[in-house]
Amino acid sequence: MKSRKERIEKELPVLIGSLEAPSHLKESMLYSLNAGGKRLRPILVLATLHAFGKEEDPGMPAACAVEMIHTYSLIHDDLPCMDDDDLRRGKPTNHKMFGEAMAVLAGDGLLTHSFQALIAGDSISPEQKILLVAELVHASGAEGMAGGQAADMEGEAKSLSLSELEYIHTHKTAKLLTFSLVAGAIIAGADKEKIEKIRGFGQHIGIAFQIRDDILDIEGTVEKIGKPVGSDTENQKTTYPSLLTLDGAKDKLDSHIALAKNALQELDLHGTFLQDLTDLVALRDS
Ligand code: IPE
Ligand code: IPE
Ligand code: MG
Ligand code: MG
Ligand code: MG
Repeated sequence: MKSRKERIEKELPVLIGSLEAPSHLKESMLYSLNAGGKRLRPILVLATLHAFGKEEDPGMPAACAVEMIHTYSLIHDDLPCMDDDDLRRGKPTNHKMFGEAMAVLAGDGLLTHSFQALIAGDSISPEQKILLVAELVHASGAEGMAGGQAADMEGEAKSLSLSELEYIHTHKTAKLLTFSLVAGAIIAGADKEKIEKIRGFGQHIGIAFQIRDDILDIEGTVEKIGKPVGSDTENQKTTYPSLLTLDGAKDKLDSHIALAKNALQELDLHGTFLQDLTDLVALRDS
């Protein structure tokens, strides 16, 4: 994990640093991109290539692209008009440092540039690039993360059903995590059947990831999670713990982890680094 993380953290600032753009905007984009974080989504792209027995290099553009989209989603998620949080990745949030207008624009810049990063280089074919663009649109736009965030906002202070909550978690979080896996599989040259199976794995690991995030909003420490504890309660969000109790949420988490592991077994990818990452999602405290 460490070496992949270092690789990604070296590459990201290069992609933004070379842009011809107002310096304050670039500074704001780089501030959030360089603030750290687990880098789970880009690591998943590279880990999928590794699991398929392929070189990881051709995965770097997609790895950087997904981290840019993720970072943009965090900047916007923290805005006063959304979750209104002041701390992210252990640092003041982007709008606290650069103001709301620049934070919105830094998000816009990262979102848009991610597609440039995705199609850069010639280590994959034009056909693969088109597939990746379509997948990233689906995962991050209105049918994906942005749609999930809209439902999350509209669900505040309402009592939601478990299926409405599952819609939110699937869209705001699982879709982008799934993109990482599907992108790795596309770049590895996997066939359609394998790609659909890996999508099923992504759905379970993605929901499990967000359930753990909900649990850490209650049981975590600011030092470890690098963001405020209790943000969901303050914003009257429906979460897995609020709907099912903490124990119920933990049971749900375990069941999605078990389903994720079944999916890996079916793919013949159990025992790979993807299995270690599945355990990490279940047990993480940061
Ligand atoms: C936080 O994602 C937002 C969610 C989808 C839960 P991460 O927990 O991956 O945040 P970083 O990238 O490590 O900061
Ligand atoms: C947000 O979920 C997921 C995104 C798409 C950013 P949260 O609002 O729970 O994420 P955190 O807890 O602020 O990281
Ligand atoms: Mg949110
Ligand atoms: Mg939030
Ligand atoms: Mg959260």
